[in-house]
Amino acid sequence: MKKKKFNLEDIPGVGPKLADKLTETGFTDPMSIAVASPGELARILEIGKATAGKIINNVRQMLKMGYTSADKVWEQRKKIGKISTGSQALDELLGGGVETQAITETYGQFGSGKSQIGFQLSVNVQLPPEKGGLNANCLFIDTEATFRPGRISQIATALGLDSNKILKNIYVARAYNSDHEVFLVEKANEIIEDKKIRLLIIDSLTSHFRADYIGRGELAPRQQKLNKLLHHLQRLADSMNLAVFVTNQVLSNPAILFGDPTRPVGGHVLAHQSTYRIYLRKSSGEKRIAKMMDSPNLPPGECIFRITPEGIRDVK
Ligand code: GTP
Ligand code: MG
Repeated sequence: MKKKKFNLEDIPGVGPKLADKLTETGFTDPMSIAVASPGELARILEIGKATAGKIINNVRQMLKMGYTSADKVWEQRKKIGKISTGSQALDELLGGGVETQAITETYGQFGSGKSQIGFQLSVNVQLPPEKGGLNANCLFIDTEATFRPGRISQIATALGLDSNKILKNIYVARAYNSDHEVFLVEKANEIIEDKKIRLLIIDSLTSHFRADYIGRGELAPRQQKLNKLLHHLQRLADSMNLAVFVTNQVLSNPAILFGDPTRPVGGHVLAHQSTYRIYLRKSSGEKRIAKMMDSPNLPPGECIFRITPEGIRDVK
C-alpha cells in the first residue's frame, strides 16, 4: 500500500512554485522541513530568512511539534534495521550490521575493500531478516565507474541466489560530477519509495568533490555543498528508514613521521555527519582490518575479515 503523500501546498505561505522547489530539493516530508534551520531553508529555496522561518514555524504547528516524547523517539529507533556485511566480526564491530536511519562511512586506501563491502551489502539487503537482510532493494550511485555487476553476480551465486533477480533489484546510477551526484540524491525520494529501497550506496561520496574543487580558495564552497548533501542524506535515512553507506578516499599527510599518515577526505563536515566511521586497512592476502573510528554508541574496536571469491567473510 502506498503511503498518502503530505500536501506541501497545505502549509500556509507555500504556493505551487515553492512546493515544487521543496519537492525538488527533497523536502517532501513535513518533518524534514520542521527540523530545518531558517538559514538552510532560505539558501536552498532562495527565499528570505524570515519567510523561511515562518514556513518552518507553520509546519511545526501543523505537526503540533515542540517536543517529541522520548517514547516516540524510541518507537522510531525500534524500526532500525541492520544489514549483514557477510562477516560476523565486522557486523559485531558495527553493532549488528549496517544500520538504517544512519550514515555509515568506510574510508581506506585503494584495494582496502570499500567497494567490495558495498557490493556485498547490495546483495545482502535483499535477504530475509533471519539471513541478515531487510527483504528490500538497493540504490547504488557509482561515481568512479567501478560498479561491477559481474562481481555482484558472483557474490549472489555464492549465497545460492538467482543472480539475475538480485541484479534487477539493484538500481544503479552513474554520477558524472559533484552537481550530478547531488542531483541524483535529491531525486532519490521517489525511487526509494517506489522500488522498496532500504539501502543507498554512494561509491565514493567524495571523489567528485575533490576533482571539482581544486585549490584552497574553493575549499569553503566545496565543504558547504558536501554539508548540504550530507544533511540531505541524513534526512533520507531518517524519513525513509534507509541505510546510507558511503565510501571515502584517504589523503596522505607526509608531515606525519610516526603512526598512520593517512586521513579521510571531507574534513570536519564529513567527520561530524557520518554516524559510523570505519577505517579499512590491508593485511596479508585476503585479510583486511576494520577499525571503528567514530560512533555515538559503540565502543572503539578492530576486527579482521576477508575478501574471498565468494564475497566478504570471516577469518576462518
Ligand atoms: P578503491 O576504490 O580503489 O579506492 O579501493 P576499494 O577500497 O574500493 O577496494 P575494493 O573494494 O575494490 O577491493 C579490491 C580488492 O578486493 C582487490 O584488491 C582484491 O583483493 C579484492 N577483490 C576484488 N574482486 C575480487 C574477486 O572477484 N575475488 C576476490 N577473491 N577478491 C576480489
Ligand atoms: Mg572502490
